[in-house]
Formats: sequence, C-alpha cells, structure tokens
Amino acid sequence: MNDEIKPLTETAEWKALKTHYAKIKDLHLRDLFAQDPKRAEKFTAEAAGVYFDYSKHRVTATTVNLLCDLAEASGLREKIEDMFTGERINLTEDRAVLHTALRAPKNATVVVDGENVVPRVHEVLEKMEQFAEKVRSGEWKGHTGKPIKNIVNIGIGGSDLGPVMAYEALKDYSQRSLTFRFVSNIDGTDFAEAVHDLHPEETLFIVASKTFTTLETMTNAGTARDWALKALKDEAAVAKHFVAVSTNAAKVSGFGIDTANMFGFWDWVGGRYSMFSAIGLSTMIAIGPKHFREMLAGAHEMDEHYRNAPFEENLPALMGLLGLWYNDFFGAQTVAVLPYEQYLRRFPAYLQQLTMESNGKRVTLDGHPVDYQTGPIYWGEPGTNGQHSFYQLIHQGTKLIPCDFIAFCRPRRRLGRHHDLLMANVFAQAEALAFGKTAEELGKEGVKDWLVPHKTFEGNRPSTTMLLEELNPKSLGRLVALYEHSVFTQGMIWRIGPFDQWGVELGKVLAGRIAPELESPAEPQLKHDSSTNALIRRYRAGR
Ligand code: F6P
Repeated sequence: MNDEIKPLTETAEWKALKTHYAKIKDLHLRDLFAQDPKRAEKFTAEAAGVYFDYSKHRVTATTVNLLCDLAEASGLREKIEDMFTGERINLTEDRAVLHTALRAPKNATVVVDGENVVPRVHEVLEKMEQFAEKVRSGEWKGHTGKPIKNIVNIGIGGSDLGPVMAYEALKDYSQRSLTFRFVSNIDGTDFAEAVHDLHPEETLFIVASKTFTTLETMTNAGTARDWALKALKDEAAVAKHFVAVSTNAAKVSGFGIDTANMFGFWDWVGGRYSMFSAIGLSTMIAIGPKHFREMLAGAHEMDEHYRNAPFEENLPALMGLLGLWYNDFFGAQTVAVLPYEQYLRRFPAYLQQLTMESNGKRVTLDGHPVDYQTGPIYWGEPGTNGQHSFYQLIHQGTKLIPCDFIAFCRPRRRLGRHHDLLMANVFAQAEALAFGKTAEELGKEGVKDWLVPHKTFEGNRPSTTMLLEELNPKSLGRLVALYEHSVFTQGMIWRIGPFDQWGVELGKVLAGRIAPELESPAEPQLKHDSSTNALIRRYRAGR
C-alpha cells in the first residue's frame, strides 16, 4: 500500500516518531543542555525578524528530522504551493484559500478561475486608503456636518477578533484623536457600553461581516441604526454613518448601506484569515494606510519564508511540527500563548479562533474519523500577569503545557527599568520551566525535608521563546502569518480541512428555533429534551 493513502498513524514516518518518542520521552532538558553546549544555537531558527528559540523543547536532532520527514511525506511542500497558487483546497466549501494574496505585492500574480486576483486586492486597498484618510483628516463629515470622532466596528469572530487584536496591538500607532470601539456580542450590554459616551453625530459604524447574515452582527447593526437615527432623525444619515465590509453586496444594500460605501473581499478569504483584507478597515483608520501596508509587508515576508525555506529552518513548519509532537505523542492537550507585551493582550483570544476553529476537526477531508488527536486548546494571557495566576499549574501541576513566549527587545514604552524587568521575567520563566529545581539543590539551600517536595520543580516543561525587535505593524504582520501557517502545517499533516467551520452551525440553527419559543406571548409547545424544556420554562417565568 502506498504511504499516502495509508492511515496517518500507519505511515512509516508516524511509526518512526512513535518509536523515537518511546526512546526519548524521559530525556530531561537539563541533560540535553549539559551534553551539548551548542544546543541553543542548533535549535534556533531565524527568519523575517523572528528569532525562534526552540532549544527548550524535548527534542533531539533526530526528532526534528523525523518531524520534517513526516511533513515531507504528508505532501506539505505541494500543499503549500497549492494554497499559494489558488487551488481549491477548501474542499468542503469548494473554495481557494488565498489570504496570502491579500499581502502580495502589486506586481504579483495569483490566478483564481482564470483571473489574477492581485489587482482587485490592491483596488480595494486603495479605496480603503482614500476612505481612511478622509476619516483621519476630518474630511469625512457626519450627517450634520461634524467630523467623525468615533469608529465602532460591528462584527464577530474573524470580523472582530483580528481587528480588535490589531487595534490593541498597534494602539501606540493609532490616531489618538479618534476613539475606537468594537461590538461583537449579541448581549446588548456590548453595544450599550460601546456607545454610552458617544454621540451619533460624530460616530461612524463599520459593519464587518463576510456573509452579512450573521445573527449577532446584523442584530447589533440594526440596533446601531436605530440608535443613530433616533438622534439624527433622517434615513439619509445612514450613508454618512455606516459603511460595510463584506463579500455580499446584495445584503449590504438590503440593509440600507450604499454599496459605494462597501469595501469588498472574496470567498477565498476565510473569516479567521481576514484581518489583512477590508475587514482591517478599522485598523487602517486607526494606524493609517502607511502602517497598514507595513503590516501587510511583514505578513508577506513570512509568507515567502514559509513557501521557500526548508522545513528544518522554516518557522511556521517548525512551530506546527513541535505542536504536533506534544499533541500527538506526549498527549498534551493545550498550548499556552504568553506574550510579554501588554499591547498583545488580545493576541491569545485572536489565536483561539485561528487555531481552534481551523483545526478543531474530528474527521479527515475524505470523511474518516481520525484515530489521533487534532487541534490543541490555545489559551493565554500576557506576562507577567499570568505568572501571578496560572503559571503555578504550568510549573508544578500534573499537566504538560507547551508554552509560546513572545517577547520584544525594545519596548513601545520605555519607562525606567520596566522593560528589563519584564524581559528578566520572560527569560526566567522559560529557564525555570525547562530546568526546574531539584531536591538536591533545595537540600543544599537548607530547605527542610518535609518542604522539599513542595518546593521541587521537576522542570522538563517545554517552551519556545520568540524574540522580535519591537512590536510594530511589520512585526505584528510577521507574527500573525507565522501562526496562520503553523495552523496550516498541522492541518495538512492531520489530513483535516482547516478552512471550514461546520461545527458552529448546529448551535446557530437551534438558537434560531429556540428564540421564538422564548419570545412568544402564548405558552409554546416545547419539544426539546427535558432539561432544555425546563430551562426555557424557567427563563420565561423569570424574564
Ligand atoms: O463563527 C463562525 C463564523 O462563520 C466565523 O468563521 C466567522 O469569522 C464569523 O462567524 C463571522 O462571520 P461573518 O464575517 O460572515 O459575519
């Protein structure tokens, strides 16, 4: 039988990793470092401004070779080419996957259905730029002639998490005379709090939705229109206070937004891969077109690296493979993402959708249940806050949690010793996790015998440290593309489809059925299970 069609776990490459795992699983990072003074050098890769130190992982040179063999045997190289060249690799939705075309330079060619899509990408970018400049300069006036001071992005999932993460990350680059708010939740509190101190005359809503059918976004957009029109008292005001970002022109004009004020993108941009498309309009207004272009350039650099570098030196491939190593061989269930940069506080939330909506799948692309673990759970908080919260479990708990530390040589805000102290902490955490503290060391320090077990750190807890020069639009672009391609690497090896999200559908359908049962004045005939029926009755009685 050809290896390509064998179940993944029966391929020679997977089996070799399994045998290798049994041999090295008990090796301790303390010994690995002691045996090889050049370990850090050997297990560090650098590209597109990211210094990627993976020496504190439980790997040897053989592990890396075997993981790269698995990637090769999985056809990853060809699959990367398929993605970049617009093959319809999103099989269940019959779509190309071309977020990389969003950051391709103007002279690049990417053909989908016989058409080079790059000129269209740049047309939209230019339209966004003209609009962003008008808003930033005050030239774009509201209905009553006042300049716009507040921008409220209404969207959810990929139409929210990327924009809000990028705005927070690049706040230091933002035009401070403008206020940015992001409304996503259907919980009315989200809208109410976002606008409570804003005036409709000075507020612009960006309704961001790929489909323009998403319940949360459409409900919030409707509420926003009511809120604006209550004050502005003229339907014509919608044209000055609402713009749309969508692939669905018909729905946009159905909502009452002039399609002249619509910024388009295409079905080959997945929601969670869309922050570099027109979905990033709020980002562009905040940081300006020049910085937005730098962000695109950063992502493009990482794209080129992913497409061309051998897997042994390829950052997204290595990141994906290391994740797979713990997920599938060590049985680790989660990955902690720990940015030591306050401006990246929403980065873990952004990554949760990117990674889990992509790789949270239980069947292969040809419909067979997998017999191995797929996407791990991503979570995290910025350092040092997490250190005073959940790091205890990472250091001394019973679970193995590989960590991604993200840090920057230069701070965005240089205040006294703050940055050196921040960096001392990130380096210390990675060191403590890897090397721990032995009972013997504690004994030498005079720690009482009964306390020794409590104070022992077994170490051997793996982490990657990514060190970048500074957080800026370019480095953010590089970082996002790094994670995007690491997700792709894993998805391809697991043979799943990282670009659909059927798992979010059932809940949507059921909610659509339940909503009228909650709202009907007459007692509804409930036909759910006894638990759901009782909850609905209880809610109706108490609402
Ligand atoms: O959660 C499902 C999902 O389809 C995401 O993939 C997407 O990012 C989000 O909803 C929002 O979709 P839209 O941009 O079409 O409103």
